Amino acid sequence: MKTIFSGIQPSGTITLGNYIGAMKQFVELQKEYNCYFCVVDQHAITVPQDKMELRKNIRSLAALYLASGIDPDKSTLFIQSEVPAHAQAGWMLQCVSYIGELERMTQFKDKSEGKEAVSAGLLTYPPLMAADILLYGADLVPVGEDQKQHLELTRDLAERFNRKYNDIFTVPDVRIPEVGARVMSLQEPTKKMSKSDANKKAFITLLDEPKQIEKKIKSAVTDSDGIVKYDKENKPGVSNLLSIYSILEGTSIEELEKKYDGKGYGEFKGDLAKVVIDTIKPIQDRYYELIESTELDDILDKGAEKANFTASKMVNKMEKAMGLGRKARKK
Ligand code: TYM
Repeated sequence: MKTIFSGIQPSGTITLGNYIGAMKQFVELQKEYNCYFCVVDQHAITVPQDKMELRKNIRSLAALYLASGIDPDKSTLFIQSEVPAHAQAGWMLQCVSYIGELERMTQFKDKSEGKEAVSAGLLTYPPLMAADILLYGADLVPVGEDQKQHLELTRDLAERFNRKYNDIFTVPDVRIPEVGARVMSLQEPTKKMSKSDANKKAFITLLDEPKQIEKKIKSAVTDSDGIVKYDKENKPGVSNLLSIYSILEGTSIEELEKKYDGKGYGEFKGDLAKVVIDTIKPIQDRYYELIESTELDDILDKGAEKANFTASKMVNKMEKAMGLGRKARKK
């Protein structure tokens, strides 16, 4: 059975973009793959976080993974900082990374642009992400489009390590969904939907109330044509809403265009709001059952134990390959 690894940062409540681009895929893939899903809290501290908020978001994200359909009997769900191998492997991979290639990462450029105090962690984030993936021998990494460049670097680092030290890493493939790989902001549809957007109307979170969801969709930026048609260049707002609708309902974009032919944006947006609420509501119901439960802690304890077992073996191999520590004594 092939292995999958993916992670989400607990840097706020996850958005519809995270759900469509990543989590929804995870739920489908866990049937066919040996999966590891991670709450990557060590990635979140590359930018300043409020300590209490972070604690809350870590637990909340773990509950949302489960509420969305991650089955702990099929997949290993765990928190990154509870598996020390990630930081250990991250360091070793930093030592095979070049500053130039890290500075070229668009996410680093975007997040550091115009800021005076940028943490070193923001620059060395990609080797930690590579460590996450390579520790488990992942064959495939399902992510949204914005992570593609980090995945290319992960492949480069794995190949470089294999060549330089010992051939121990599986070079992973990236899996980006055909539709929904880049869900756009509801307010600026040429920008990706992000949980860190200062404008709260730009994104829908999985914990938004139905009323809020309706309001956000109704105020989503469209255009003055009044025609429900997919045209990413000229109608980015309507095209984004059509993609969301199509993925969540499982109806093709052409069928939706036909359905709303001659109808205005009001009806289209009202129906879309219903589709989004119908998707999110059962997730929220399960979420509120889980969030205070000991069941959640039991699942995370077990997940950390399983992840530690696999990851520590790979760290030992990496250390051995690089010549760290002493040779094991003969007994
Ligand atoms: P993060 O936390 O920003 O996002 C989590 C996942 O959601 C996808 N995503 C989107 N997909 C479609 N439309 C959007 N608007 C959108 N916004 C986010 C992301 O592509 C991602 O798949 N560095 C990663 C976390 C990470 C990771 C890993 C991922 C750490 N280690 C190892 C995979 C494997 C990140 O910041 O994702």
